[in-house]
Amino acid sequence: MKVLMINGSPRLHGNCNMLMQEMITIFEKEGVEVDKFELGSKTIRGCMACGYCHEHKECVFKDEVNDLAKRFEEADGLVVLAPVYYGSANGSVISLLDRLFYSSNFDKSFKVGAAFAVARRAGTTATFDELNKYFTINQMPIASGRYWNNGFGREPLQIEKDEEGRQNARIVARNMVFLMKAIKDAKDKYGLPEKEAITPTHFIR
Ligand SMILES: Cc1cc2nc3c(=O)[nH]c(=O)nc-3n(C[C@H](O)[C@H](O)[C@H](O)COP(=O)(O)O)c2cc1C
Repeated sequence: MKVLMINGSPRLHGNCNMLMQEMITIFEKEGVEVDKFELGSKTIRGCMACGYCHEHKECVFKDEVNDLAKRFEEADGLVVLAPVYYGSANGSVISLLDRLFYSSNFDKSFKVGAAFAVARRAGTTATFDELNKYFTINQMPIASGRYWNNGFGREPLQIEKDEEGRQNARIVARNMVFLMKAIKDAKDKYGLPEKEAITPTHFIR
């Protein structure tokens, strides 16, 4: 059982990282392998809608995204942590997620998703919703907690004082492990739900 964790913050040792570590303590205890991707200051440009991936099943830009897609394919779950910038997720993590989800062609259904938004003060619920949209358009069940997944702090590591946020990260991690195990068992027992051919509706032809 493996979880891919994307820390979307440019600050490698900031507050997102601290929430990520909180989750890792649970994953390690439960014997779940953790594959970490730290976005940091990597230059990840946005999708330019060139359509290269429609044919080649990977992104035209040969940066970390294509490799990350392979790591995502191997994982049973995906965690995304992002700092809130101007009321939404920071730009570089959105560039990464747009390209990761759009250019990769494997079946993401029933991989479990969990998203966290970290802020000084405001914008976490909008950011949480924004991040969950990558999961819910891909038939990925979401591991939830006992609040909308957020954490508070401005300067690096201030989130240490947000005990509720850190506790929620542990709860989400435990729920995620449970869901991943349950889905694995259910897959073995029942198989995945039948897939229908996609019927895209375009009103303008
Ligand atoms: C460009 C920028 C915009 C920000 N916008 C917000 C915001 O809209 N709301 C908020 O509460 N905090 C905002 N912050 C503060 C960060 O969300 C906060 O410092 C957070 O802890 C960063 O997480 P990190 O330590 O993992 O990088 C902003 C910070 C930066 C650099």
